[in-house]
Order: sequence, then structure tokens, then C-alpha cells
Amino acid sequence: MTLAPHSQRSQRPWWRDAVTYQIYIRSFADSNGDGKGDVEGIRSRLPYLKALGVNAIWITPWYPSPQKDHGYDVSNYMDIEPDYGTITEAQKLIDEAHSLGIKFIVDIVPNHSSDQHVWFQEALKSAPGSAERSRYIFRDGKGKNGELPPNNWEAVFGGPAWHRVTEADGKLGQWYLHLFAVEQPDFNWENPEVREHFEKVLRFWLDRGVDGFRIDVAHGMIKEEGLPDVKSKSKMLDKDARPYWNQPGVHEIYRSWRKIFDSYPGDRMGVAEAWVPATSLPLYLRPDELANSFNFQFLDSKWDSKILKKNIKDTFKNLEGTGAPASWVYENHDVTRKVNRFDRGLGGGGVSNAKQRYGNLKKFSLKRGTRRARAGALLMLALPGGAYIYQGEELGLPEVTNIPKDRIEDPYWKMSGFKDPGRDGCRVPIPWTKSADGAHGFSTRILMSTKEAWLPQPKDWGNFAVDKQEQSEDSTLWLYRKALKIRQSEEGLGDGPMDWIKTSKKVLAFSRPGGFQCWVNFGPTIKIPNGAQVLLSSLPIEGRKLPKDCAVWIKA
Ligand code: GLC
Repeated sequence: MTLAPHSQRSQRPWWRDAVTYQIYIRSFADSNGDGKGDVEGIRSRLPYLKALGVNAIWITPWYPSPQKDHGYDVSNYMDIEPDYGTITEAQKLIDEAHSLGIKFIVDIVPNHSSDQHVWFQEALKSAPGSAERSRYIFRDGKGKNGELPPNNWEAVFGGPAWHRVTEADGKLGQWYLHLFAVEQPDFNWENPEVREHFEKVLRFWLDRGVDGFRIDVAHGMIKEEGLPDVKSKSKMLDKDARPYWNQPGVHEIYRSWRKIFDSYPGDRMGVAEAWVPATSLPLYLRPDELANSFNFQFLDSKWDSKILKKNIKDTFKNLEGTGAPASWVYENHDVTRKVNRFDRGLGGGGVSNAKQRYGNLKKFSLKRGTRRARAGALLMLALPGGAYIYQGEELGLPEVTNIPKDRIEDPYWKMSGFKDPGRDGCRVPIPWTKSADGAHGFSTRILMSTKEAWLPQPKDWGNFAVDKQEQSEDSTLWLYRKALKIRQSEEGLGDGPMDWIKTSKKVLAFSRPGGFQCWVNFGPTIKIPNGAQVLLSSLPIEGRKLPKDCAVWIKA
């Protein structure tokens, strides 16, 4: 397959090629010793990110929030969570990132707010049918006395998607919709006030210089008219449409947002978190909508040459005609780390219990998982388009599968009836130093009141620490550093064409302009082409031999 040639890298919008680093703020770096990451912590680590070689950073929600879903329950969209810092510090961070040549993306959460948002508090105090209630989705219940939820929708975290409120007269009354936690009421996007509010929010951050937005639950804002029952049970990626996902009405919102982005200088962008069928993704990427959408089908692909090849081919087939680049992603704060997934043959989304999340733990091999994760990194970073790396992915962090039950904070745990331990295992704070002091360097100092990070780190977490990996050229950290450096110097990488190289079924091999080739071996040892110059390999290799679960970048 060949893609149409593109212009020079320096001449096209930055997001067509960018490697974006996702920062889960609560777990990245803690500057004040309260056990939680913060804005100043990120600022102190900008040199690390520069040295890593990423082009952009995306910060997960840093707005004031009761943290019921760690920031994805926003109580004020135009300020900073006091635990994380101040708006002045945030501005300083944006400016400093820019001065290092790093683009800045913030997370916007338009599907729902926190139940502590002033609008929702007003809605609760106001009467059914009031203007205050119409900013959210309130409905009378079914049954004789309205004692049954308005429809059969279920929350993503588990349980019913409706919660009944107590009215001013002290009696049980209407229900409100929450597709996620009870504390995350869904906005009513049919209400122009909601639309205006978010346009204001976009401008607020664009005025502060942000280069883009990661749009949370981008496929969720519009619900089917009449809120009909769900006919069959299905997961987010299933083909049959749900009355609350992927409704045609969302596109009008993005068209209006695109106009706002374009009214600012520079290439401002939006990237959709849209868990929709692959064939629907291109709709979000139309030229007058968003520039980018995470490729969750790729994330969901198992470590299997056939599945991955099909995914890559489908990706480009689906992109045809949109003009948009591909956006590869393996990890984020919602899915099991790829070291575990690749080892245990797991996909990413749609899990609802520990077995699906972690696979058979008795059979997990850190060594094999790490080997595959490293090979996967070279695959992803050689493919045409942009790529997203989640903090700790560059350290080869595995999933933490044994967080003590009383320390689990993810709402999945409780809402699944304690069946699904949730996503905390990929959110454990970053180990910066091997020493156990300050939670392996996560907290630069320790307050008397806080002896450890908000989520406990495993005892051996220091083995993955940045300072330890910096000392060894064979570390996963160095693999990423070298790969990103080559990505910068090889003009043929990033957006642009690729051509498959004919190989056995257990090998993925393709070329990029300038004589660059990527070979990934999923089967018995093979030989790479004669006379090739090895630029980088995911493991040390001898001669032309490429062993199983190993990838190599070569110049032919
Ligand atoms: C998105 C976020 C996830 C959050 C959910 C509700 O899927 O990535 O972390 O829980 O939206 O906001």
C-alpha cells in the first residue's frame, strides 16, 4: 500500500508527525510532598521530556475536581485544582514547554461534569422542568410513582446509568443520567447554554496558548432523541450503535470547534477519545472537524502479526479520503500496560473483571512481556503518522496487579461490585530514583503527614527508575530516546507513505522513504536483508539474525 506523498515535515502541521507524551498529572511528579503529582512537578521534569525527544505533551484533567474519577469529574473548567497548583503555575508550565519546543495539549471533558459543578448544584435545588435542570439530563422515572429509571441504560463503570434525586419537598423525585460515575452527571448538549459554555472554555485555554485538546468521551455528548432503551447489551467498540454513543449530532459540535481552533494562529488541534467502530472514526477526522483520533483498534490488537497487519491496513483504508494522518496508541491511563497485555494475549478496552484485565497472572512473564513491548515500540514509532506514549511506557513499566484492596481508588472497583480492580494498576506513580526515599523520587520531599504516594508503589519499583535506566544504554528508556532521535533525523518517518515488504506470515516488515525499513519478528529467528545498516534494535542482535519478539530499524 502506498500513501500519497506529503510535503516536507517542517511545512506541514506539527500534529501530523508528533510523538505526544501523556502525563497523568496525579502520578507524574510531586513537587510539594503531599503524595500527589502537580504542575510544578511536571515543570521540574520538562528537561527529562526534552531529552526523551517528545514533540508534545498532553496533561490529563488538572481542573478543580472532587477527584471521584481523578479529574474526569470537573467542577470548574477554567481553573486549576488547588492540589495541583495555580493558574499562574499552569501558565508558566505552558510557556516553558513552548520555549523548549514542546507543544501543549489539555484534556477537555465535555460529556459530563462533577456533581459539585455549580450548575449541577443549582439544578438539584431547582424544580423539575426548570432552566437549571435543562443543562443536564433529568427525567421522570417509570412505574406508578416514578420509582423505576427512565430507561435501561447502564453506566460504563457498572450499575444503572440513572440516579434518583430528592426534591425540595424531601420526597424522591426525578432521575438524572450519568454514563460514568454517579458523581459525573451528563450534560444536555441540546441546550445552547452548554455549547456556549464549552466554547468559552476552549477560548479560555487557547488564549493561554495551548496547542490542542484531547476530547474526553468524544463520541458521547449527543444522545438519541427520546432516550430509547438499549436493545442488546454491548461494549463500546461493538458494531451496533448505542443510543448514547457515536450519534451523528456530535459532528456539528466539532465543526463549530474547528472554526474556533482555526480562528487562532498556529495549528491548533483536537484529538478525539472516541471508542467507536473503526469505520466511524473517519467521520471525526473530516477536514472541517478534528485533526486526530486515537486508534483504539490498534491499542486493542493483540501481539499477533496477522491481527496487527490487518489493523494497520484497515487503518489506512479507513483514513482514505479524510486527509488525516494515523494516530497510534498502545497505552493510556485507562488500559492495562502493554507489557502485560502483549505477554498474556490481551486486548485493551471492554474489560469488566480482573481476569480480563490482567489475564492469567501465574503465567505472566515480565521478561517476555518487556521484550514484546520493546519490539512494539519500534513498530509503532515507525508507522506513518503521529503516536502517543503514556508516562512510564518509556520505562517499560508493567501493570501493578496487587494494589491492596483498601487502597484502590478507581470507581470501577466499587461500581463493578468489587469484580473489576479497575485502572489504578497503570496509574501507579512514576519511579524517578532507585532509592526508596520520597516514593522512588516521585515526591521530591516527604511531608510528615504523607509517607508515600497516593497509590502505593511495589517494593521493586526502583528497578524501573529513571536514574537506574539512564545508566544503561540497553534500558527501555534509552530505546525510546534513541528511537525518537532517529525519528527526528529520518525525514521519511512520521506522516507519509509506507510500503509492505513481502515476508513470512510471522513477520511484519515495511519500508519508509529514504531507504528506512522496520522489521518485527513474531516467530522463529529470521535473517534481515544483506548489507543492511542497523539503526536500532529492540534487543541486542548478532549479525543478521532477528530473533522472536524482536524488532529492528535498518537502512537498506
Ligand atoms: C474517559 C477517560 C476515563 C474517564 C472517563 C470518564 O474514558 O479516559 O479515564 O474515566 O472518560 O470521564
